Parts: sequence; structure tokens; C-alpha cells
Amino acid sequence: MLMPKPVLISGVQPTGRLHVGNYLGALKNFVELQNSGKYSCYFFIADLHSLTEDFDPKEKPEQTLNLLADFLAAGLDPKKSVLFLQSRIPAHSELAWILNTITPIGELRRMTQYKEKLLARVPAIVEKGILQDGVDMREFENAGLFDYPVLMAADILLYDAKFVPVGEDQLQHLELTRTLARKFNAKFGKTFVEPQPLLTKTPRVMSLSNPEKKMSKSEPTGCLFIDEEDAEFQPKIMSAVTDSGSDVKYDPDKKPGVSNLLTIYAALKDIDIPEVEGRFKGKSYVEFKSDVCQAIHNEFVGIRMKKKELVSKREFLRQVLLEGSKKAAEIANKKIEEVKKRLGLTA
Ligand code: ADP
Ligand code: TRP
Repeated sequence: MLMPKPVLISGVQPTGRLHVGNYLGALKNFVELQNSGKYSCYFFIADLHSLTEDFDPKEKPEQTLNLLADFLAAGLDPKKSVLFLQSRIPAHSELAWILNTITPIGELRRMTQYKEKLLARVPAIVEKGILQDGVDMREFENAGLFDYPVLMAADILLYDAKFVPVGEDQLQHLELTRTLARKFNAKFGKTFVEPQPLLTKTPRVMSLSNPEKKMSKSEPTGCLFIDEEDAEFQPKIMSAVTDSGSDVKYDPDKKPGVSNLLTIYAALKDIDIPEVEGRFKGKSYVEFKSDVCQAIHNEFVGIRMKKKELVSKREFLRQVLLEGSKKAAEIANKKIEEVKKRLGLTA
């Protein structure tokens, strides 16, 4: 008998343009994993998660379809993977609620991403001091931001996913997912699979303008977006923060800027860092950066063109999400029924 393929799942929030960190940490890997044929793949647009950020409802459909266009332009294929929209499947929210009831608040408080997002949102508060008149101002943030990792756990556990390709910043959330799966299984009987993360060689691409921080949509000046025209991204690379000295050498402590560009270049060319160092021995930063620009151009020019073509086909994009969501719902609905049975929600 043929063994079923292990399930693999990942999601991305529709919150803005994808950058090279998203691409090298996640999307490029999604495409390779899909094409390996070894997994039953699910990739989705985490629009419920995106409600935890400031947003304009008028822009949400555009952001969602744009992200799907990115997925398809990069090589995800609805014939090979199930591509779906989180909010179309109520089971995600239902399971998140159920998992909430076994999640210790202390675990959520420890989440680095939650703490970072809180601090990023309240610079004024940080400046003035977290406490004002004895009140912790962070307490005014939305509870969804706090509860974000529980919804993420639901996304994964609903599909019995064994593997979850993500960037390094999501590891803590995955650890929580594993903890919740174990806890639920121990309390109510074996229901969930404990998932494992899959990281790329570049799980943490750094910001171009501040190479000590990760490249993130929340700091667009340090981002290199995958759909940028040459004229837009070239100046960013040429003026990316590098370091004093002139050797193109990997040394993340002393040369974080150059090391970041080396990492990006190596990942785009699919070669090792020492090979890149060898290639640029005795060459200047300017020569190196010009080659980085060329590598970026080569990688993204095709994706950019495909994306342009796809974004105008909104009906087609909607149809892809609709069909994918139907397939995903079949699996998710079965699982949520199993969960409800386990909990005695059957009267
Ligand atoms: P952002 O942090 O820019 O808002 P998302 O949270 O939408 O990005 O991340 C989507 C995917 O990209 C996740 O799997 C995340 O781990 C990965 N990712 C985000 N930033 C980076 C980065 N700088 N380097 C590597 N992977 C990243
Ligand atoms: N939290 C992820 C991010 O910020 C997005 C996400 C939501 C996700 N649900 C998921 C990733 C489930 C992997 C699996 O990028």
C-alpha cells in the first residue's frame, strides 16, 4: 500500500509587500518543498492574523490577492499544493478558541514577537515609561496580538501537519504549538500531530539599513522587496550599511552589513559563504554590491513579470483561493469534529 505523504503547512500574513527575508526564509523554500513531491502541501494567507495589525478594510482584498500573486509568481502551483484563505475556514477560529482554554497566559507573555510588536507600537509609551500613573500602558493593546500564537497553533494542528517551513522568528510559536498538541493529547486522547519546523540556510535575513535587526515589513526602509524594479532596489543595495574596512568577509559580529549581503548573495546563487568570499577576494565593496544587484535582478525579474500579469487577473486569483479553501475545509472540518467529540461537545 502507498504510504500517505507527510503534511506540510505554512502561512503568510497579507500585510504588505514580501521582502527578501520572507522569500529566502520562507517562500523560496515553499516552492522547493512543493516541487520535491515528498509532501502533501498546504499554503495559506493568514488574513485573520493580519487583523491584529492596523489595517484599512478597503485594502484587505487587494493585499490578499497580491500575496496570492506573489505565491503563484514564485512558483507555488494550485495543482500541486492546496492554496487557501484562512478566514474562509471557520474551523481555524473554533480550534483557536478551544486551544485557548488549555494555554497558560504565562506562555503567551513570554513570546518574543509579542513583546517586540508591543514595544514597536508604543514608542511614545516606551519613551515616557511603560508605567503611567501606575498603569501598564501595554495593557491597552488588542488581545488578538497576545493570542496570535494560539491561532497559529490551530492553523497547524487542524491539518495534522508534520512539517512547518518558517523563518527563525516563528520557532517560539512552533514550540508552543508542540506544547499545546502534547497537552491536548495527554488530557483528551491522541488527536494532534506534533509538528517540526523546517528552516532554510537563511532563516534570519537582516535589515539593509540596520543589519543588527531582522528585515521586517514593519521597517520598510531596511527591506528589499521582491517586486521592486531595478531602479528602486539598486540604490538600496549600493547604500546598504556596510562596515569600515574593505574585505568581503563573513563576520557577523564585526561586519554585520557585509555578512548580511554575503548571506543573501550565497542563498540567491545557492553556493556556500566561503565560495562567495573566494570570489570577491581583493575586490571592493562596490564591485561586490554590483554583483549582489545582478543576482537580485536575475532571481526576481521573472517573478516580477509574472506577478504583474497575475495581479490583473483578479477573478482567476479569487477562484484559486475559493477552490483551495474548499479542499482545505474538508480536512479542517473533519478534524474539528474529532476535536469536539474528544471534548464531549456532542450532545
Ligand atoms: P514580517 O516579519 O516581515 O512581517 P511575516 O511575519 O509576514 O514577515 O513572515 C512571513 C514568513 O517569512 C515567516 O515564515 C517568517 O518567519 C519569514 N520571515 C520574516 N522575516 C524574515 C527574515 N528577515 N528572514 C528570514 N525569514 C523571515
Ligand atoms: N505567524 C506567521 C508569521 O508571522 C504566519 C502564520 C500564521 C503561520 N499561521 C501560520 C506560519 C501557521 C506557519 C504556520 O509569519
